[in-house]
Amino acid sequence: MKSERGLWGSKLGFILAASGSAIGLGNVWRFPYITGENGGAAFVLIYLVFVLLLGLPYMMAEFALGRATQLNPVGAIEKVKPGNKWKYVGLLGIITSIGILSFYGVIAGWTFGYIFKSLFDTGTPASNDFSAFISNPQYEIGLYAIFIIVTAVIVYKGVESGIEKWSKILMPLLLVLFIILIVYANLLPNSSQGIEFYLYPDFSKVGFKTIIAALGQAFFSLSLGLGLMITFGSYIPKSTNIFTSALYIVLFDAIVALFAGLIIFPALFALGENPASGPSLVFIVLPKLFSQMPAGNFVGAAFFILLSIAALTSTISLLEVPVSYLVDEKNVSRKKIVWYVAFFVFIVGLPSALSQGTVKFFTNFGWLPSSLTSADFLSQMSFFFGDFLLTFGALLLCIFIGWIWGAKNAGAEIMISGDNFSKFKGTWIFLIKYLLPVIVLVILVSIFKVTGIS
Ligand code: TRP
Repeated sequence: MKSERGLWGSKLGFILAASGSAIGLGNVWRFPYITGENGGAAFVLIYLVFVLLLGLPYMMAEFALGRATQLNPVGAIEKVKPGNKWKYVGLLGIITSIGILSFYGVIAGWTFGYIFKSLFDTGTPASNDFSAFISNPQYEIGLYAIFIIVTAVIVYKGVESGIEKWSKILMPLLLVLFIILIVYANLLPNSSQGIEFYLYPDFSKVGFKTIIAALGQAFFSLSLGLGLMITFGSYIPKSTNIFTSALYIVLFDAIVALFAGLIIFPALFALGENPASGPSLVFIVLPKLFSQMPAGNFVGAAFFILLSIAALTSTISLLEVPVSYLVDEKNVSRKKIVWYVAFFVFIVGLPSALSQGTVKFFTNFGWLPSSLTSADFLSQMSFFFGDFLLTFGALLLCIFIGWIWGAKNAGAEIMISGDNFSKFKGTWIFLIKYLLPVIVLVILVSIFKVTGIS
């Protein structure tokens, strides 16, 4: 039902909407805790190299395939190479997006809940405050359900009115609040130790896990690897410059992540917290920071409102992947299918919601080795879908675009309205055809070697 697909209203609208998908809990929640667990600055540096060298060129490849075919990932692959097994790569992306949305929605629920906690809890939070909050099943499941329902309502309305409007107004506001918090956090006594941890690399701390974490985080944060940017690309007009747009999106995304770190690390050293405290890091450090600020209740509430909205623009884009596939390929009505998919996601996410102390079985799940991630079901989902399947999908899609569709064809699509791309085209083709597949393959294979999974 092509009539249900729109085009972006403007180039800015497209850039902001794609940035809205990219910028989310990945930048503000996941980036700081993974940086903290992996020793700080050296991880940040490796992450930035991956973002520029692999993330940026790969994002352009996804946009090019989407714009050339005007279809969702599965349809796009079918159009380039009809009747072929490659279409399963598109299906893999759909499965991955459901897996990611399921645990991401749980954390988005915490974020939402912290709006109210910030407003109504007074005084410095007790040290077990957060763990008590997330092990309460009513809150966990209730907040998670609310978040999935709100996401579904917006996807139900369609791409133009839904995503674009929200992103335009609220992303800039989030940045303003970040800048205020950076200034405040860096004026606290002892905060300079945090800057040192965050910005002066110590390469003796780099291990194999640091490298996988940096690669996974680069793709996760930019919303790459499952064909979402193919879907986004299918809505861009031929007059939009793919190279410049991707550059903006990548820069915005990296800046928000780096800014989040500039708040968290100074604050956590000033407040005497541990950088390696895992997924709970921001939820422990920030409420403590807010509790010391003048009008901290309101600053905290405003922060979590904006973060919830940043999370929402990401969950919208994640739900859009299976929905637009079903609308295009199976000819079902968008209005009906949104609710079925959302319900399915909700069920898949229940074990993650119950894995933070509520149900022992899920809290100590431990299916993947502890050298990769913590044992709770949510962390295992985050690693399996958010790092492993995502990078695996990126590898396959990159091979498909570089070798089956052909990097030359993809490059020609980018050239349509990208004069400034011509001097980088040769390098880009090299990155897509050779460098990215080799680096990602080596890293993925070594996961099996190092951990002994077989
Ligand atoms: N990039 C988002 C974030 O950083 C999460 C996200 C949204 C995502 N859509 C995605 C991740 C698609 C991978 C693929 O919070």
